[in-house]
Amino acid sequence: AAATGYEAENAVISSGTVATNHTGYTGTGFVDYTNIVGSSVEFTVDAGAAGRRGLLLRYANGTAVDRPMDISVNGTVVTAGASFPATANWDTWTTRTVDANLVAGTNTIRATATTPNGGPNLDNLTL
Ligand code: GCU
Repeated sequence: AAATGYEAENAVISSGTVATNHTGYTGTGFVDYTNIVGSSVEFTVDAGAAGRRGLLLRYANGTAVDRPMDISVNGTVVTAGASFPATANWDTWTTRTVDANLVAGTNTIRATATTPNGGPNLDNLTL
């Protein structure tokens, strides 16, 4: 199936804000995670058929320090502490891919910060 993109600013945000204060994002903005453990963004996606898929998370991290996040699918962590290392600056976006098994149809995919720095700035999810 063709890749489908989901904007973080349209997802369910827990402890974060929609921001536009950096360039290069898709859609109408990006999510600026609150700088706390547990801040999160949850996407509801349509996987089509069940199977193992690459989840492409587009992010920016303008600090020198990793911003790891737990990636969960349908409430279960599938990758703990996935690394979101530094990008050149907050205007420079890159994609981190996490592979996960999805069920047919609707799935929830959540990215939850695991350090007091919170998550990186998150632009979108493509699968
Ligand atoms: C800066 C930056 C934000 C970012 C924040 C952070 O304030 O402008 O976009 O989210 O740092 O450290 O998380």
